[in-house]
Amino acid sequence: MIQKLKGTKDLLPDQSYKWQILEKKLNKVLENYNFKEIRVPVFEYTELFQRGVGETTDVVQKEMYTFEDKGGRSITLRPEGTAGVIRAYIENGMSSLPSPTKLWYNMGMYRYENVQKGRLREFHQIGAEIIGTESYLADVEIILLANSIFDALNIPKIKLNLNSIGCPKCREKYQKILKEFIGKNLNNYCDTCKSRFEKNPMRILDCKESKCKELNANAPKMIDYLCDDCKEHFENVKRMLREFCIDFKIDTNIVRGLDYYTKTVFEYIDENTGLAILAGGRYDGLVNQLGGQSTPAIGFATGVERLVEVFEQYNNLDDKIPDLYILSSGMEENKKAIEISEYLRKQNHIVEKDLCDRSFNAQMKYANKVRAKNLLVIGENEIKTGLAKIKNMTTGDEKEIKLDCSQIHNYLMA
Ligand code: HAM
Repeated sequence: MIQKLKGTKDLLPDQSYKWQILEKKLNKVLENYNFKEIRVPVFEYTELFQRGVGETTDVVQKEMYTFEDKGGRSITLRPEGTAGVIRAYIENGMSSLPSPTKLWYNMGMYRYENVQKGRLREFHQIGAEIIGTESYLADVEIILLANSIFDALNIPKIKLNLNSIGCPKCREKYQKILKEFIGKNLNNYCDTCKSRFEKNPMRILDCKESKCKELNANAPKMIDYLCDDCKEHFENVKRMLREFCIDFKIDTNIVRGLDYYTKTVFEYIDENTGLAILAGGRYDGLVNQLGGQSTPAIGFATGVERLVEVFEQYNNLDDKIPDLYILSSGMEENKKAIEISEYLRKQNHIVEKDLCDRSFNAQMKYANKVRAKNLLVIGENEIKTGLAKIKNMTTGDEKEIKLDCSQIHNYLMA
């Protein structure tokens, strides 16, 4: 038998209803913040991610699903959403829309990762981007939005870690100092770090190798080298978050795995697993880097698989069950069952009926298995008299009812 690929998951009905509950709640929060949905292609030119995410990142160097299509183009399955969204923003002239533009998405992502708990090769992100403002107010709004998502999901206290990684101006000075520090021990770093030393020394701080992590422990911190503008921006963000009692911790080790970030970066970490549930930051240079006019932006994405796992820990999530099962047998009886079920479904009731020409007994078994709340039996006699029994399966109460759509609707509403 052909099996699914490592790092992928089938989402079966016993899980998918939880995703639906979560997605509905998130859609509502995003709508309340006036974000609009965008959907972009699952594959893009490889160059988009090389330029957007960064040549020296793990994502681009090690994790992309890249292939040549039949036309000889280099294509990549999106490893993250921001680059594609910004490509679409530029390509569709969205800068002419009221600015800032607030977009959200819910899309599958593909990364050739070392598969572990919470780390998949196909995973889903719900992301939000505010494009067109450099104000700290957008940073505050994006963090308030993230918090509102956790609130809407009834998830208590996910730790927010915050850092600022400055702008190209303050980074120039910092990178020199960082290179001096790393340079002293460069021989002891892993080969990937060595290869990143000249091109992008800050990437070395994101290395997962334990020997590199140890060497990096005392590295100079970007936050100590922020220019006045970046410093003021970060102070304003922190001040406003405190005003609204948003708990956060400054974590100067956050560098993020993607190169486009500037200034504020953040991660919400699940303390039980140590995994980031939601993460993002400001990326003031990306639009320009991808060929658009210089446009500051900020956003985040949450890993839906990880978020659902936490969501179900804190909530009793029950799937919907049929309001009514209609038992019927025979042409006239089946016709009546179809008529009633179609009517009730249009009135928003969940209705199930026989589709297999089964015996009453077998239909009853099925109705029990799907935990139908009520049962309506339509046999020869019921067609003749126009009266039928409806049974509440929880209480066991039985009632005679007219075989009339609106009467049954009223019964189900009561
Ligand atoms: P990221 O930190 O790479 O950022 O991913 C965001 C979230 O996606 C993570 O916090 C995690 O919950 C989830 N995630 C990432 N990789 C995996 C994986 N292999 N398996 C399961 N879940 C995973 C971004 O992708 C940025 N585009 C976020 C952003 C939007 N920044 C600004 N705007």
